[in-house]
Amino acid sequence: MAELLLNPHRVPSYRSAAPVAGPRSFHSRLPGYAPTPLRSLAPLAARLGIADLRVKDESARLGLPAYKVLGASWATYRAITLRLGRSPEPWADLAQLRLNLRDLPPLRLVTATDGNHGRGVARVARWLGWPAEVYLPRGSAPARLEGIRSEGALVIEVDGTYDETVARAAEAGTATDTLLIQDHGWPGYEEIPEWVAEGYETIFAEVDEELSRPGHAEPDVVLVQIGVGTLASAVVRHYRRPGLSTPPVLIGVEPTGAACALRSIAAGQPVMLAVGADASIMAGLNCGTPSSAAWPAMRDGIDAFLAVEDGLAMRAMRELAEAGVTAGESGAAGLAGLLALLQPEHREARARLGIGGAIRVLLLNTEGATDPDAWARVVGRPSA
Ligand SMILES: Cc1ncc(COP(=O)(O)O)c(C=O)c1O
Repeated sequence: MAELLLNPHRVPSYRSAAPVAGPRSFHSRLPGYAPTPLRSLAPLAARLGIADLRVKDESARLGLPAYKVLGASWATYRAITLRLGRSPEPWADLAQLRLNLRDLPPLRLVTATDGNHGRGVARVARWLGWPAEVYLPRGSAPARLEGIRSEGALVIEVDGTYDETVARAAEAGTATDTLLIQDHGWPGYEEIPEWVAEGYETIFAEVDEELSRPGHAEPDVVLVQIGVGTLASAVVRHYRRPGLSTPPVLIGVEPTGAACALRSIAAGQPVMLAVGADASIMAGLNCGTPSSAAWPAMRDGIDAFLAVEDGLAMRAMRELAEAGVTAGESGAAGLAGLLALLQPEHREARARLGIGGAIRVLLLNTEGATDPDAWARVVGRPSA
């Protein structure tokens, strides 16, 4: 049902560079900013026999149904700061920011996506009053295409895999009036995906703030979905930061049909898998190549990798729906990983990871019902 690989390359003493403070202050000035809820799923935790289960619920973030806009906006901000040659500060809202950017010629934001990141980039372009060009693999869910179009972006469907779509966008993003804002890195293109990962720090800064209140405690285990690994690298950066006395166990979760990080860890180096658009229903995780910008953090800092079947993701969607959390296929993947991890066949692996019964677990619901028809089919009722 699920493949579990303990990471033989993990460096127990590995510490990341300390997370940067800028993203939270930046995001808090964007329209509609509010910390997303950290939900406590006590009945499900009791049923699973664990001490505590929290879900950071990113199903509504800055007015969009996924966390991705956090990385897209921060990376764009850093890239335009570089183009401008000086800081756009001070600004308190978008109108002032746009004014402070008036010396820049209008830029076209370009990206490839399987849905959520592209919508985030399109929203950022709209905020800045710029055009956006978003590439998706043909066969992407109509609701995801529509979501991006609704931001005013030009949507271009590519006959090919996600990885081929990324290559097409990278080509388009070389024009001088464009900015390629990709959440995927390759040799020669790593700065922007690193900034995308920096932007995700806002999620964990909010989690820390909430868990620092009396009666709350830090997690023992964090499960993170992996597509190309940018989010996982943000998790490593946060939970392997210097000075953290008891760092949690970190587990990456991928679809069986697109387990590029797990296969790369097994091979000892990044490998490229042929992953078609129908490899998994977890569309956001349907990637064949780990990001070269995220790979070192995953290799050194993630304790174990799990590959889960689509059926388990569907069960996780239903469990979360019952607990009042709307999670799309990729959003529910962390819980799918937890359900797999707690199976009797992984008892020995759990022991080797130091995972006992009374664990406190943190999951990330990274998306809401981004394909409402698919969500309704799985859960058995329409999404709200
Ligand atoms: C909903 C969702 N969760 C998780 C991920 C995985 O993120 P990454 O590609 O940074 O590993 C994605 C990526 O598209 C996504 O859309």
